[in-house]
Amino acid sequence: MADLFSVRMRAAAGAAHEAGGRHLSGAEALVPRERVRAATRAMLGRALAAGVAAGVEADFVQVTVERVEADRVVGIASLPVVTARVADAAQARRLAVDLLAASGVAPAVAEAALDLLAGGPGPGGAVMRGAAVMEAASGRRLEPDPARGVRTSRVDLDPAARRRLLAALRRRGVEGRRPLEALVLASKGAWAGTLAEVCISDDPGYTTGFVASPRCGYVRLPFLKEAGSPLGGRVFFVNEDVAADMNGYVARLEEVPAMVTRVGPVAPEAAPAVILEGVRGHG
Ligand code: COA
Ligand code: AMP
Repeated sequence: MADLFSVRMRAAAGAAHEAGGRHLSGAEALVPRERVRAATRAMLGRALAAGVAAGVEADFVQVTVERVEADRVVGIASLPVVTARVADAAQARRLAVDLLAASGVAPAVAEAALDLLAGGPGPGGAVMRGAAVMEAASGRRLEPDPARGVRTSRVDLDPAARRRLLAALRRRGVEGRRPLEALVLASKGAWAGTLAEVCISDDPGYTTGFVASPRCGYVRLPFLKEAGSPLGGRVFFVNEDVAADMNGYVARLEEVPAMVTRVGPVAPEAAPAVILEGVRGHG
């Protein structure tokens, strides 16, 4: 197979990220040489559109193009997807805790993680630039830099997997780029050794969060976020073995290029009890 290219975009308002600008948008692709030009153009368009959507100018846009040797790319599977039929925030939170517990996270640690995200997981209650990492049994924070966290990167879907997954999500009424990209990031996380993950968006208007793990798949949770809050984030839970090798774990998440080549199923919306029964029955 020919080498691929990692194309990564980040955009900020006010100034470059490293000069204190506000993060507006980020995106990436892993493409063959003949698609680099189109991918770069699409990312630039996306950066400028993110500025317009936020009512500001994208004052800084960087697109990085980097060759990736074909034999370094690992093929991974997307996690199975289901949307929970929950009525309100309390039910969504209860299900999130139950799913995390079924995945191996201590229930008290799961509760603490949800509180942490709702209050801003970074120093002083700020949003982080990546995910917090917690030991699943103790809740001990493990990310080397608590303001940054760890950031899953260098991942994409191959064109056939993208088509199949987009069609499967659409059949279940899940539209748009955001769920697809979050699923891809979570799938790489699971491959990298994440025991479970919980995410609440920092977008004040996007209230659907998720719990993901190899055990329960990717469970979309409407109402997990309180509407209007600019706070949110991700927590990656890990077991003791992964906690003992944080450098290896972070390198897998951030550096090892991964391509989704296999697509997991996308189930119809289901009630919490049905989802939990499936997860508990599974192991
Ligand atoms: N939030 C806030 N700041 C961010 C950021 C984010 N999500 N991503 C990058 N930055 C800023 C930070 O200041 C960062 O410095 P830090 O490492 O000290 O935090 C700086 O930009 C450089 O980040 P880096 O990751 O080295 O940049 P990059 O150009 O290599 O990659 C992204 C940028 C946005 C593509 C990458 O970080 C990312 O988030 N990838 C996932 C994108 C995705 O959704 N993929 C799904 C594929 S289907
Ligand atoms: P979002 O769902 O895009 O609103 O992101 C929610 C939170 O997840 C952000 O506030 C970051 O803390 C974190 N985050 C964003 N991108 C990544 C990433 N690539 N890997 C891990 N965490 C991320």
